[in-house]
Amino acid sequence: MELRTAVSPTQRPRADRVRMLERLKREFIGLDTAYPLASGEERPRIYLDSGASNLCWRPAWETAERALEHYANTHSHLHQGARIMTKAYDDAHQAALEFVDAPESYTAIFCGNGVTGGLNRMARVLAERRPERDVVITTIMEHHANDLPHRKHVGEVVHVPVEKDADGEAGRVCMEHLREAVREHADRLNYVAITAASNVTGILNPIHEIAKLAHQHDALVVVDAAQAAAHMPLSMRGHDVDEAIDVLCLSGHKIYTPGSPGVIVAQKELFAGLEPQEVGGGVVDFVDTARYDIMDKLPEREETGTPNLPGSIALGATLRLLQHIGMDVVEEDERALTQYALSAFESIPGLHLYGSHRLEVADRIGVLTFNLKDLPHGLVTAALNDYFGIAVRNECFCAQPFVRQLLGISDETGVAPESCFDTCTPDDQPGMVRVSLGLYNTKDDIDACAEALTYLSENAEAMLEEYVPVLDGSGDWKHLSFRFDPSSAFSIDSTLERWLQG
Ligand code: ALA
Repeated sequence: MELRTAVSPTQRPRADRVRMLERLKREFIGLDTAYPLASGEERPRIYLDSGASNLCWRPAWETAERALEHYANTHSHLHQGARIMTKAYDDAHQAALEFVDAPESYTAIFCGNGVTGGLNRMARVLAERRPERDVVITTIMEHHANDLPHRKHVGEVVHVPVEKDADGEAGRVCMEHLREAVREHADRLNYVAITAASNVTGILNPIHEIAKLAHQHDALVVVDAAQAAAHMPLSMRGHDVDEAIDVLCLSGHKIYTPGSPGVIVAQKELFAGLEPQEVGGGVVDFVDTARYDIMDKLPEREETGTPNLPGSIALGATLRLLQHIGMDVVEEDERALTQYALSAFESIPGLHLYGSHRLEVADRIGVLTFNLKDLPHGLVTAALNDYFGIAVRNECFCAQPFVRQLLGISDETGVAPESCFDTCTPDDQPGMVRVSLGLYNTKDDIDACAEALTYLSENAEAMLEEYVPVLDGSGDWKHLSFRFDPSSAFSIDSTLERWLQG
C-alpha cells in the first residue's frame, strides 16, 4: 500500500482522538429518523448510502448556524458582520488547505456544485493554459464528473483499464497500461485525471505514483477526491516534489456537509496570466464600460459572486473536526468495518461482490457493490428500504462505462440510452446495489443488512411477486401495495405551518 501522510492539527494523543471519534459518531443529523415499513411497523433508518451523500455532522452545522448570527456579505468590508464572515470564510479556505496538507504555493477555491463544478472549472483552465495539449488520460473507473468535463473542454480522452486480481476481479488502475498510454500521448498530454477512490468498488489508486509518472512527461495530475476525502488521509505532497498533486477536488456533500460546497485545491501558478473562467462581482480592480481589470489575488479572483457562506463554513468546520480526530484514526476505524462488511457479505448465498475483495491486494474504502442472483438491483434496493428500513443506492452510480464493464456488457451491446426511454423494463437497465459506509455506521448496521440480504436471497421468488417493474427506463421496481408519501415526513409547507399560525 502507498504511504500517505496523516494530517492532524493537534498533538492530542491517539487514544484521546479515538475517544473523540467514538463520542462524535452519534452526532449526525437524521441518523435516527424513523420511517414506516411495509409491515406497518416504524423503524429508525439504517443509512448505508454515504457514497451518494453522507449525513450532516451536527457540530459543523451548528457552527455554521452560529456564524449566521453575524451573517453579512463578504463583499462588504467595514461593518462587524462583514468582517466576521470574511474571516470565517478565510478560515474555511485555510481548513481545506490544511486538510489536504497543501504547501504555501497552493490555493483553495470554493466553486459551487461539488467536485463536478471543480473538475469542469479545472478542465477549462488547463485547456486554456496549454491548448496545444489536447489529450487527457483517465481511467475506466471514473465517475462521469471525472470524464465528461475533459471530453467537453479539453479534447480527446483516453480511458485506461483496471487491473484484475487472481480471482479475475477488478482492482485499481493498471499502471502498466497507464505508463504505455502516457508514453504514447506524451507530446499532447495535458493531464492525467484520476479518482483517489472508485465510487463503484471503493478501490484506491496510487495517486502519488501517478503524479510522478505524469510529471516525467511534463503532464499534470488532477485528482477526484470526492469519494476518498471523508475516509482516508490525503496529502498534496508526495515523498518528493515529483509526487505532488497539482489539482485536487472535494465535495462537501460527501464529507458530512450538505449544500454541496465544492473545493478546488490547486497550484496557484496554474491560474497565472489567465482570465478567470467566470467573471462578475468581487474579482475586479477596475471596470468601466469599455474594459475591466481582473485582480491578481487568489482565491478571490476565482470566486466571483457572493459565496455559499453557510456551506463553506460548515465544510470548514467539518474539515477541522476531522483534522482534530485525525484521518489516520478515521481510516483505521472504517477499514475495520469495511473488512467486517466484506466478510459478512461474502457468506451471503447468491451475492456477487464487484471489485477485488482482498484489501491486501486492492485497498478500498467502505464501498461495497454487488448483485443478488435472481433479483434485479432495483428490486433489492426497494425491498431493503420497504421491508428493512435500509437505505442503499442502485443503478450505475454516475459511472456507466465502469459498471457496464464490471457486468460484462460491452459498449457495443450495452443499452443505449435512447432505447431505454419510456418503454424498457428494469431488466434492460444494467446496474448494481451499493452499500457505502460513513462514520456513524456500526457492526449492527452491517449485520442487519447482511441478514436482510440473506432473507431476500432465500426468498427471491416470493419477493418478485411483491413488486412490479416501473417501465420508465429507470430500473426501478415498486411494491404492489406499500406506498410512502414523502410529504407525510417532511414538507416545506407543513414545516412552515407553525410560523404561519403565529
Ligand atoms: N455520484 C454519486 C454517487 O456515487 C451521487 O452515488
